[in-house]
Amino acid sequence: MAARDFIIRKIDPKTMNEDDVRCELAALAAEISHHDDLYHGQDTPKISDAKYDQIVARNRSLEAAFPHLVRADTPSQRVGTAIPSYSMFGKICHARPMLSLSNGFSDEDIEDFVTRVRKFLSLDVNVSTQFIAEPKIDGLSLSLRYIDGQFVEAATRGDGNEGEDVTKNAMQIASLPKQLRGQPPAILEVRGEMYMNRHDFLTLNIAQEIAGKKVFANPRNAAAGSLRQKDATITGQRNLQFFAYSVGETSEPITNTHWDFLAALSDYGFSVNELSKRCNNVDDLLATYHEIGHQRADLPYDIDGVVYKVDRHDYQQRLGHLARAPRWAIAHKFPAEQAETTITAIDVQVGRTGALTPVARLAPVLVGGVMVSNATLHNEDEINRKGIKIGDRVVIQRAGDVIPQVVRVLINARNGKEQIFKFPNHCPVCDAPTTRPEGEAVRRCSGGLNCAAQLNEGLKHFVSRDAFDIEGLGPRQIEQFISLGWVKTPADLFHLNDKAADIAALDGFGDLSINKLMTAIAIRREIGLERFIYALGIRQVGQATARLLALHFGSVEAMLTALNPNADLNAARQNLVEIHQIGAAMANDITAFFGNTDLYQIITNLVNELTILPLESPTENSPISGKTIVFTGTLTRTSRAEAKAKVESMGGKVSGTVSAKTDFLIVGTDAGSKAQKAANLGITILDEDGYSALINSD
Ligand code: IVH
Repeated sequence: MAARDFIIRKIDPKTMNEDDVRCELAALAAEISHHDDLYHGQDTPKISDAKYDQIVARNRSLEAAFPHLVRADTPSQRVGTAIPSYSMFGKICHARPMLSLSNGFSDEDIEDFVTRVRKFLSLDVNVSTQFIAEPKIDGLSLSLRYIDGQFVEAATRGDGNEGEDVTKNAMQIASLPKQLRGQPPAILEVRGEMYMNRHDFLTLNIAQEIAGKKVFANPRNAAAGSLRQKDATITGQRNLQFFAYSVGETSEPITNTHWDFLAALSDYGFSVNELSKRCNNVDDLLATYHEIGHQRADLPYDIDGVVYKVDRHDYQQRLGHLARAPRWAIAHKFPAEQAETTITAIDVQVGRTGALTPVARLAPVLVGGVMVSNATLHNEDEINRKGIKIGDRVVIQRAGDVIPQVVRVLINARNGKEQIFKFPNHCPVCDAPTTRPEGEAVRRCSGGLNCAAQLNEGLKHFVSRDAFDIEGLGPRQIEQFISLGWVKTPADLFHLNDKAADIAALDGFGDLSINKLMTAIAIRREIGLERFIYALGIRQVGQATARLLALHFGSVEAMLTALNPNADLNAARQNLVEIHQIGAAMANDITAFFGNTDLYQIITNLVNELTILPLESPTENSPISGKTIVFTGTLTRTSRAEAKAKVESMGGKVSGTVSAKTDFLIVGTDAGSKAQKAANLGITILDEDGYSALINSD
């Protein structure tokens, strides 16, 4: 069963047989990975946090009932997602893992948490335990490293062990202290949440829209997108904020309690959330939860719950952590935010793959501080299931990240003027018939690339950041070129230079921008196989799957041979299913895509324009494979970036900090204190000559 086809089954695990459980766990693993990648890797979640939590909870209950069937790649042991291969940032190995939090939803979950903690510590009934309750900020976590009070490095969480090196970007963020006040320890890693105020988010989106650029779904995505900019000065202009709330590596302990630690952070110059409170028992915690919950809509930033942390550090230390979350903390999540409004119309949008999605147009309403005027209705069954009519009063819900949804119709508010919505059996854009294969919830336009909507969306995807990433070719230009008939397929983009004079006559283009555009297009004639596959926009094939396919086929020629419309597609489908993480439905979509003769021709034409580079697989047997290397000082022969790329291409890892995990320290000129630390730890220290001898040995 593939992730997409997966329906959360509410069957009681006790009544299930092992084969079914195994099958469902596999589907859940794929489903959770997929959503992890959308959320953490691409900053564009497609389901609500509440829905995600439901899927995770189902996985947990199956695993609890069948512990011997827990998968080696179980999502319950993972934090966030690995950094995608296409990341434009270097990697930083966290000196201490950056953990996530377990979630609680009910009062009972919190009572259980407190009981668990007290039991683990075997505390006497008359010994109280204090907890700190803090708002759970809906942003992205960041680790900031300070040496002698001086900011040196910033990393995102990544998979918890290794994050992206966003130092250059963080350097531009005014709200992050660059030089700490007071007497911080020599080494101090401060962790916290980077976020964007709602007001700045709305202002940014207006500016993005005017400039024809991507608008962000919510403040969290806006913060993540703003931090991960190629051009760090853009990050600096985005007014990003940071609340500090936890510690990574420190050269010496700072305080005995979390409460005092928060005060110390504030003294060092960090913003610490003022709603945080010290609590003595469950009642205190729940009262704080409700207090913070009442203020939620009026806060200038998004929060999605309250985090409770054991106050005493010695207790925290004794409690330790599980694979992905500490035992000494829990997040008490808020239910999704809801509001009432009226459906004024229902429109149908056509997506890249021809899927028709009904969208409810709403009388604008504020939900949790964000003005909402559209809600997705998912598909025609959903409209029927919920009995939605045009003109209905409805409850809508905005669960943090995703497009708002209609929860239910307020039947009693009906006045008889409401109208039934009839789902179109012709595409509202190109008028081609729509089809809905048996067993599928989605109705699709059959127009393919003849449908302007599919062509538009497909090409927008094709040139987007993670695909061909053609600078100067955004959604606006694509729409313009399509409407002028200059671009009908992706290959046409590579003939736009024939139209340079015509483009020059268009509004918004000058000589300089045309030259730039032509250069950007020319550069992209050379592209990596995994980006190429991702850019094709095959249904269900995101970046992770594109990479799997690139690794599997090795070259575009091999892929086009195996999947050509005259090949044995059943055999091809079977081969695909054998690739780890590719399920039957995904394999079907892939073979159906290449099996379409028109599309196959379009792809072949495109391939003829390009040089497609095979995916380089890291060398497994190099002298540094599996080794962790730290560079210090100035390298005279290569840049840091190049040295890092070289290590990674040889299967090694580069870290910014010397720790017991380091295998080699490479010392350039003007090196600092790392050599002493490495010497103390007995780590092999090499100068550039020694390093070059090492990587060239076999
Ligand atoms: S403590 C080991 N405190 O929530 C402790 N996390 O769902 C790790 N978050 O990864 C985190 N506000 O990005 C902590 N006051 C807060 C938080 C907070 C937001 C985020 C953080 C974490 C995620 C887990």
